[in-house]
Amino acid sequence: MTIRLNVNIDHVATVRQARRAPEPSVIAEDLSLLRQSVSTYLNMEMAATEEMLRIALESRPDAVTLVAEKPDEITTEGGLDVKANIAIVRAAVSKLRQGDILASLFVDPDPVQIEVAHDVGAQQVELCTAAYAEATLGARAIHGEGAAHAAQELRRLRDAAELATQYGLHVAAGHGLTYRNVGAVAGITEITEFNIGHNIVARAIFVGMEKAVYEMRRAIKAGSFRPGLGNIPD
Ligand code: PXP
Repeated sequence: MTIRLNVNIDHVATVRQARRAPEPSVIAEDLSLLRQSVSTYLNMEMAATEEMLRIALESRPDAVTLVAEKPDEITTEGGLDVKANIAIVRAAVSKLRQGDILASLFVDPDPVQIEVAHDVGAQQVELCTAAYAEATLGARAIHGEGAAHAAQELRRLRDAAELATQYGLHVAAGHGLTYRNVGAVAGITEITEFNIGHNIVARAIFVGMEKAVYEMRRAIKAGSFRPGLGNIPD
């Protein structure tokens, strides 16, 4: 089975815009430039607003991941509450699918959200790995309670991935994943896509983007290696 690694580049934009200066000021053009230059797979993360839907349908990314966006957030802060926004999400998913764009929902690894994601017609869920990632930070997950907590969060991801697969959904995962903690998540066979940004972009400052991405692919590959399969491309 092939696992896809998507690199979230919002962190590049964060650096670019850090000075809040008028230049560079090409945000509105970013998407069309990306669509012209990305020949592999373009996944656009966005809130389910009318404006963003119009932009997505015009720009035609391969996939759209609907996320919960807060006005002052630096990055996405948790899964979308699909249950609480069911009518809006259902309508957005329907428009995306009519536009031949894969509809993915960024959700916490919660059985209720997965059930509702299936109900509104999404084709994929991206499981939010933030709680797992938080549990693995620093030396937290090495001993006793910390290790048990990280194992519990990993189990939640595994159960959610299994449930999503039973519903016929594709399963992606992301948020807070690092070179160190991605391996255990890559061991969950149902997960076929990773969306990772911050750790790769931060490492790219030292080793360059190509090497930073390559190293993350290696970390995923090492974690997902299953005897007899081993056919994840380098
Ligand atoms: N998935 C989603 C939906 C996100 O919003 C983000 C943040 O860009 C990521 C994955 C990647 O998270 P991180 O930058 O922590 O790797």
